[in-house]
Amino acid sequence: RERKRKEGVNLLELAASFFRERLKMPEGEAARAYLDKRGLSPEVVRDFGIGFAPAEWEAMRRHLGERGISEAVQIEYGLLVHREDSGRTYDRFRDRVMFPIRDIRGRTVAFGGRVLGDAKPKYLNSPETPVFHKGRELYGLYEARQANARLDRLVIVEGYMDVVALAQFGIRNAVATLGTATTEDHLSRLFRVVDEVVFCFDGDQAGRQAADRALRTALPMMIDGRQARFLFLPEGEDPDTLVRREGAKAFEDRVTCASPLSEFLFEQASQGRDLARIEDRERYASQVLEAIGLLPEGVLKSLLLTELSRRTGVDQSSFESLMKHHGEAES
Ligand code: GTP
Ligand code: MN
Ligand code: MN
Ligand code: MN
Ligand code: MN
Repeated sequence: RERKRKEGVNLLELAASFFRERLKMPEGEAARAYLDKRGLSPEVVRDFGIGFAPAEWEAMRRHLGERGISEAVQIEYGLLVHREDSGRTYDRFRDRVMFPIRDIRGRTVAFGGRVLGDAKPKYLNSPETPVFHKGRELYGLYEARQANARLDRLVIVEGYMDVVALAQFGIRNAVATLGTATTEDHLSRLFRVVDEVVFCFDGDQAGRQAADRALRTALPMMIDGRQARFLFLPEGEDPDTLVRREGAKAFEDRVTCASPLSEFLFEQASQGRDLARIEDRERYASQVLEAIGLLPEGVLKSLLLTELSRRTGVDQSSFESLMKHHGEAES
């Protein structure tokens, strides 16, 4: 298994340097112009190992073939696509800016590729392979650790470009999930590195839904000393556009002011409710109570129960017995 990993990583390392070389060659001109247009300096491009996949069908296959790597292995690690219907085998990534996805030790395990224009799909990722499980990897985690002797918090953003744009502005502690919701695996990985994570969401409906899911994923993991906070960006902005418009200081301030989980929990449950009405207050209490029920036993759980009781005027012991009954009904 370790041998397999080594084989895959060596191959992906070869692919990453191929993409980097191609970015420097004359054929990489349009990609260099694109990166420049997005405001990325050659230094950041280098730090993130960004490259270019040429607009050819078999450049990668030839490159790796000459180095003795079989097509079967290239397919297994997602660099080549094999179509059963036509029997054709060709390069997966063509005419795209390539972002290597590195594991915590800096080994390239996959790629994300962005089109230079408006073609679809905008991003193309490596498929699941023996070394890549997208529900586990976080783009930028290795780079964040490299850039900081000490890391206190990590900011979770949506996209590759968000991570790289923030780094361009000197904010070198952002990571992105790879087009999926944040999973428990992601969070346990992050909490191994820092005690505080800040979820950064778009200020739209999809962003609020994502926050809801993130909260549920985070709650069971809130053991002593860990912190999660929630940041909502203005409608229509992502971290990339916002840091360009407002600068690093303003973005950092938003991160610093992000709602702690404890506040977000109550804020979110009060959304769209009139707490002067008993029925609304009942639903509010149930929603908060359900969330509190997901927390591990500990001080935070007790404090939140006390706060819920203060906010609703209901005795804390009533909530405790309600929660107990709820737990029993479920198990
Ligand atoms: P830019 O348009 O380059 O600024 O990228 P973005 O990161 O702002 O993209 P967007 O907000 O649309 O999407 C966020 C993330 O979702 C991306 O970084 C990708 O990881 C993923 N994503 C977006 N579009 C696609 C797609 O067409 N296919 C796949 N597989 N993932 C996508
Ligand atoms: Mn798998
Ligand atoms: Mn959005
Ligand atoms: Mn975006
Ligand atoms: Mn964007």
